[in-house]
Amino acid sequence: MLRVLVINGPNLGRLGKREPEIYGYLTLEEINKELSELGKTLNVHIDFFQSNTEGFIIDEIIRADEHYDGVIINPAAYTHYSYAISDAIKSISLPFVEVHLSNIYVREEFRSHSVTAASCIGAITGFGGFSYQAGLHCLVDHLKKKV
Ligand code: DQA
Repeated sequence: MLRVLVINGPNLGRLGKREPEIYGYLTLEEINKELSELGKTLNVHIDFFQSNTEGFIIDEIIRADEHYDGVIINPAAYTHYSYAISDAIKSISLPFVEVHLSNIYVREEFRSHSVTAASCIGAITGFGGFSYQAGLHCLVDHLKKKV
């Protein structure tokens, strides 16, 4: 069974209440539950981590190296300026898929650049909660091709 960690960055714990016209009405818990269900059908065990703090996210990325086969990450606003998270992703050998609920390319200018995506195998942006499901399919496909 593959083991995948999902990391969510700042303010994503507010999903459901936070700017629903942009991020939708699903809570993070609901998104995680749907992803766990998909994981069962794909034979993937999924753990979830959310933090509003950059250092905790970096610690979790480093911890993941020992415990998982791959990571799905939504770095939230850190996407646009955290070279520290980007470096942490590069410092370990696991494949990462970056996901975003909103389409970061059609919003404010500062959101159209990701400093973290270049450390990942790919990125999915703009499909709401389904971005995570698409991300899981992409990660599993990548991991199976590696075996
Ligand atoms: C986000 C997009 C970011 O620009 C924003 O700061 C977020 C959420 C998304 O999932 O659409 O917090 O990562």
